[in-house]
Amino acid sequence: MEKPLSYLPFGIIKGTRSSYLKLYLKDCLTGMKDFIKDDTIDVVVTSPPYNIGLNYNSYKDTLPRKEYLDWIKMVGTEIKRVLKNDGSFFLNIGNRPKDQWLAWDVANTIREDFTLQNVIHWVKSIAINKQDVGNYQNVIDDIAVGHFKPVVSNRFLNDCHEYIFHFTKEGNTALDKLPVRIPYQDKTNIRRWKSTKGDKRDRGNTWFIPYKTIQKRAERPHPSTFPVKLPEMCIRLHGLKQDLVAMDPFLGIGSTAIASNKLGVSFIGFEIDKGYIDEIVIRLNSAIN
Ligand SMILES: C[S@@+](CC[C@H](N)C(=O)[O-])C[C@H]1O[C@@H](n2cnc3c(N)ncnc32)[C@H](O)[C@@H]1O
Repeated sequence: MEKPLSYLPFGIIKGTRSSYLKLYLKDCLTGMKDFIKDDTIDVVVTSPPYNIGLNYNSYKDTLPRKEYLDWIKMVGTEIKRVLKNDGSFFLNIGNRPKDQWLAWDVANTIREDFTLQNVIHWVKSIAINKQDVGNYQNVIDDIAVGHFKPVVSNRFLNDCHEYIFHFTKEGNTALDKLPVRIPYQDKTNIRRWKSTKGDKRDRGNTWFIPYKTIQKRAERPHPSTFPVKLPEMCIRLHGLKQDLVAMDPFLGIGSTAIASNKLGVSFIGFEIDKGYIDEIVIRLNSAIN
């Protein structure tokens, strides 16, 4: 069994697959200014607080909208400073039933510093009627898979997706689409299209990444996380290479840190709540062991 991770001064975690994982108990704006040099980060995968009154331990998620967007703008500008020119900034955010502009208001704020290169739809749950898909052999009946928070209202639909906005500095960052490709359903396509490379097609911008089924609320120690597979796919899509450095300014319980460790990518992250940082160390230990 590998040695348990130790949490060292300045947040450096030892014993991981990555050359380094640095987790700072610190406000991200101060942290980025103090610890990260210009043009040094390859890929940012993050999800900021959505300002929807969630119960985080330390952060108050209820700012007036303008104040919230001004703060998001400052974080975006700081990310621009630290990101390399060919870097990728994946920003995950969702809406509320009563506030369908929230995600787009945030994206529009970031737009002042970045180009929106791709919009990815993170699909948490999907329903497929057999009659709509014809002869697909793998779909033998109507199916509904994945989890979502049900909306109790006759006005709004259950919200089964969130956005991942892929921002880059100039809109021309080359991606590595191969690792996130999926096999063709109709294998005749492999011969039909000249550009086809084996039995894999571009996954497109709808990513079905369900939450794990949990039995008890205690299994979710944070009110708003994304599955580790989400940052893993973003980092793979940006392209794995030697000495890659990933960052998450809003660590939460560290899904991007765990994905980075899994991929052997160096990582820097910030979180203002000590309890969440402690949880990251527990999750990293169990991921490694
Ligand atoms: C949406 S959650 C991120 C969850 C994360 N993606 C995960 O999967 O665990 C946002 C996090 O940002 C933290 N936060 C809020 N303000 C912050 C700040 N100024 N600097 C760093 N972290 C902050 C909150 O405590 C919260 O844990």
